[in-house]
Amino acid sequence: MFRAVYYKIKSYRLPEEFEGFRIVHLSDLHGAVYGKQNRKLIEGIQKARPDAVVMTGDMADHSRHAIERLVGLSRRLCRRYPVYYVVGNHEQCLKESALTSLIRKLEAIGVTVLENSRHTITRGNASVQLYGLVTPMVYYKDRLREYEKGIDFSAEEVRKALGNADKRRFGILLAHNPLYYPSYRRWGADLTFSGHIHGGIIRIPGLGGLLSPDLTLFPRYDGGYFQEKGKHLVVSRGLGNHFLVRVLNPPELVVVTLHTGVCSHNGIGP
Ligand SMILES: [Fe+2]
Repeated sequence: MFRAVYYKIKSYRLPEEFEGFRIVHLSDLHGAVYGKQNRKLIEGIQKARPDAVVMTGDMADHSRHAIERLVGLSRRLCRRYPVYYVVGNHEQCLKESALTSLIRKLEAIGVTVLENSRHTITRGNASVQLYGLVTPMVYYKDRLREYEKGIDFSAEEVRKALGNADKRRFGILLAHNPLYYPSYRRWGADLTFSGHIHGGIIRIPGLGGLLSPDLTLFPRYDGGYFQEKGKHLVVSRGLGNHFLVRVLNPPELVVVTLHTGVCSHNGIGP
């Protein structure tokens, strides 16, 4: 079973109209199921009473059943909430026809799929800007492959993908891989949602997550909340179990509530 993890994030850049805006963040489900037709997961989401649901990739894998389950889950969520989606490396590794089919199905049921694009969320007279980044596969480092060791996805690369950040609006970025978070915040993201690291797979008390998917020991952004230079990053430890083992690392449903005010946060347990 997953646990719900709650964060309160404050920013002076958030418009007053968005005070209390609540976002449920799902990531790295990898085709897992919680109850029949994901009933328990949907109940957990309903309990959080979100204003929006964001999904940051690796929600399905190559199996047809996992894709169907993701579409079914999304359909039920779309009946109640605006749902936003970016792909992770696992969706990007699907055959092109399968990925196109998945995206079309999600869009047909009402999911806003962000592929290096943006979407404006409006409340009253105010708005925030939501962005979805697709990181090219070459930037998913593989420590076993020499040529990929020195690469960096720079803020300029983010700008090439997404255009300039809208400085007038609070910007929320969905980006599957948190490895390049310094580039995201330099580009202009006020709040970034990521996943991919699975909490480091094995949690070691006092030290954090042991291993990232690219075989980095003790990855910096292993899961949880991070603040750098007044910008915010939330990394889900993920809902699935792609690596077959999770130690001291329960799957998690992330709930973020936004507040106006001086930049700060509170992480509140389940
Ligand atoms: Fe991933």
